Amino acid sequence: EKFKHIPHPNPTPEAERRKLLAEGNFGKVFSDHMFLMDYDPEKGWHDGRLEARRPFALDPASLVLHYGQEIFEGMKAFKGPDGTVTVFRPEANGQRLAASARRLAMPEMPVETFVSAIDALVQKDSAWVPEAEGHSLYLRPFMIAHDAFLGVKPAERYLFAVIASPVGNYFAKPTVDVWVTERYTRAAPGGTGEAKCGGNYAGGLVAQREAYSQKCDQVLFLDSTQGHFVEEMGGMNVMFVRKDGSVVTPPLDGTILRGITRNSLLTLGRDMGLNMREEPVDINELFEAAAAGDVVEAFACGTAAAVSPIGRLKRTPGEGDKAGRRTEAVFGDGATPGPVTMKLKKALLDVQRGRVEDKHGWRHSI
Ligand code: PLP
Ligand code: COI
Repeated sequence: EKFKHIPHPNPTPEAERRKLLAEGNFGKVFSDHMFLMDYDPEKGWHDGRLEARRPFALDPASLVLHYGQEIFEGMKAFKGPDGTVTVFRPEANGQRLAASARRLAMPEMPVETFVSAIDALVQKDSAWVPEAEGHSLYLRPFMIAHDAFLGVKPAERYLFAVIASPVGNYFAKPTVDVWVTERYTRAAPGGTGEAKCGGNYAGGLVAQREAYSQKCDQVLFLDSTQGHFVEEMGGMNVMFVRKDGSVVTPPLDGTILRGITRNSLLTLGRDMGLNMREEPVDINELFEAAAAGDVVEAFACGTAAAVSPIGRLKRTPGEGDKAGRRTEAVFGDGATPGPVTMKLKKALLDVQRGRVEDKHGWRHSI
């Protein structure tokens, strides 16, 4: 697809860009350009364009500001050993954005248009793809409803945008501690848990704050029906490693995000002969199994987090018939990443960075 390129009036000078690329904080620094495309019922998706990144002008009655009709994606561009830039599985993100659009009553963008938009921005800002290990250009496509109308109904006009941010590791330490919230849930059957919509994150922030107040780095949500099955974390899926080397992650039941990293690790694990299982994880059994040494590793997985080892899970001592239960599940010594976790992490990073054969056609050249 051909898009218009509107010249940037004052791109970041190279020396300044190099300094910014070295910072590596997640989501604080942005590349020079953005991609924009409009939708209305008459023209469909139209006027795709690359231009200098700048603030939006939005009518204060824009639907997104009131009823949260917004969806987004997260993906990464990597620099290979030979300097070529590839994007990891953009078609999968395009398909998930389309699924999120259906759930949020928004117009689907054809996957080919989505991938062309990503290509256009990454090509334009390829100098913003960092080289350092653990670093990449994080891409954030999103779609908002901007009809100026206060009635509650799906909008007619939408804006699709892609911005890019050079990033390093999401967590600055080797293992993270995770708080199991029992006060808040993230998603219910029939709700929006499987969609990547801003509202899911807004509703989870208070639980994330609860985790911080318990000196944890992330929050883990349980299912909203029975309250004792592991779902996912605030911004990542979760996996556990048993003593026998098998790896288990909760099944996709409609309330958790269909993580592309989760899917990639299931495949890479099977490729290396690991027993990768999708089955329900009961939180009480998990705390017991960790204490008994039957579950020996845990990790978070997602685009931003890649594979992030978990040192321990923590929860309240409980009340009533739960009083006195275990409040900590410690994996290994609680501070050292486990061997299966690190093997999976290496396999993922190697394919993302172009250091091994791309058996599944996941690296998309731009
Ligand atoms: N779960 C949630 C809530 C997320 O925000 C993310 C991140 O995108 C994931 C899981 C992992 O998904 P992916 O691996 O596609 O990035
Ligand atoms: C991602 O990994 O892309 C996410 O959306 C999660 C968030 C922590 C940035």
